Amino acid sequence: MTRRIGAREIRDFDLERLPEGFIEDPYPYYRALREQDPIHRCPDGSWLLTRHADCLAVYKSAAVSSDKRRLFLPKFGATPLFEHHTTSLVFSDPPYHTRVRDTLTQALKPRAIGATVEVLERFVAGLLDELVTRDSFDLIDDFASRIPIEIISTLLTVPESERSELRRWSLAILGALEPTLTPDVLAAGNHAVTEFIDYLRTLIEYRRREPAGTPNDILSSLIAQHDAGELTERELLHNCIFLLNAGHETTTNLIGNAVHCLAIEHDSRRRIVEKPILIKGAIEEVLRFASPNQLGNREVAEALSIGGQVLQPGDQIIIGIGAANRDPAVFSDPDRFDIARSPNNHLAFGSGIHACVGMALARIEGKVAIEALLARLPEIAIAEAPRLRRRVRFRGFERLVIAPVHRADHG
Ligand code: HEM
Repeated sequence: MTRRIGAREIRDFDLERLPEGFIEDPYPYYRALREQDPIHRCPDGSWLLTRHADCLAVYKSAAVSSDKRRLFLPKFGATPLFEHHTTSLVFSDPPYHTRVRDTLTQALKPRAIGATVEVLERFVAGLLDELVTRDSFDLIDDFASRIPIEIISTLLTVPESERSELRRWSLAILGALEPTLTPDVLAAGNHAVTEFIDYLRTLIEYRRREPAGTPNDILSSLIAQHDAGELTERELLHNCIFLLNAGHETTTNLIGNAVHCLAIEHDSRRRIVEKPILIKGAIEEVLRFASPNQLGNREVAEALSIGGQVLQPGDQIIIGIGAANRDPAVFSDPDRFDIARSPNNHLAFGSGIHACVGMALARIEGKVAIEALLARLPEIAIAEAPRLRRRVRFRGFERLVIAPVHRADHG
């Protein structure tokens, strides 16, 4: 039964002081906000939007900015984290944004990533060969997180022996974007940026001498842009880091959330096993139903009217992606997981000028991973209580233990 949330809880709702049980199930809160206070003023003055139409209007608006310099300076101080986040494509405005985005868009176009799909299929098959022989495995550490690291490392031409630190760096850098920030998280984030930059400097120097000669070499595209004077060294380095961050935790969570949904939704899983063509729709539904990115942000640059409320320049907007994706005005029976949902106009990849550049790649990674997993393990059994990562911005599991059930095990 859906939990009722009172008017007072909604009036005082604060993303920095989450109510009990919010991480486990934020949707009753999102629903109550959408119904009672869809343009909610948080205690820190920011506006939290929970209706699909309002979120979309902000994504499409030219009156908002993604530049975070003003916001992040008091939060991070003059630190490596500040330099990193304020140089990343996603936290920038045109014309810089347009210039860097063009390069990444070319490199990540569906046709351009064709060769990467072969790497992906081989890699996933290799992982599964070993995992199915175990009594149990952690789907996140042993499978889901390994896939985007492999793919982005391939795109950035990071040699196999040097990939182990990438995930730790990425988690530490993204952790510092949560609404609450502790000194430990800040220190770990800064340390990770410094180590990552040092590593990339060495890799770039090496690549200049020894071209990788692989298809979809994004690192070389960015180096060429730097050499042509279109990108400073700082911009080159930080956008390599950003690419890993943008595509790593999000895609890990897409795969993890997909397995979790399909482990619970037996009927949907059986339909996919019988008709693998249904996977495409299932991935879209996971993106909507358990969106890996639950929140987005914008700053108001020029006065802007959203849902009848006028927001002033300098105001911070929190785009409730996870909430918008459960809006009954757009999705019928929104709390139902429906792999055949059509249309499925979710906002999991954002929209407008910053819409996810890697969405084609993420969809392929999700599809290949789930297709291969279900082909080997059509009955997914969760072996112990799953543990969610305690984050509001990114929704996903820290640990999701699966016990392979082989066909012979159940007759
Ligand atoms: C399921 C996986 C993914 C999800 C849910 C996701 C989600 C998003 C969202 C919501 C945005 C918009 C941010 C904003 O407007 O503020 C975004 C931007 C971006 N994403 Fe993804 N993403 C995923 C995978 C990837 C992958 C695999 C890559 C590349 C390897 C990638 C690269 C990017 C880049 C470069 C941007 C910035 C675009 C810009 O600012 O113009 N993403 N992503």
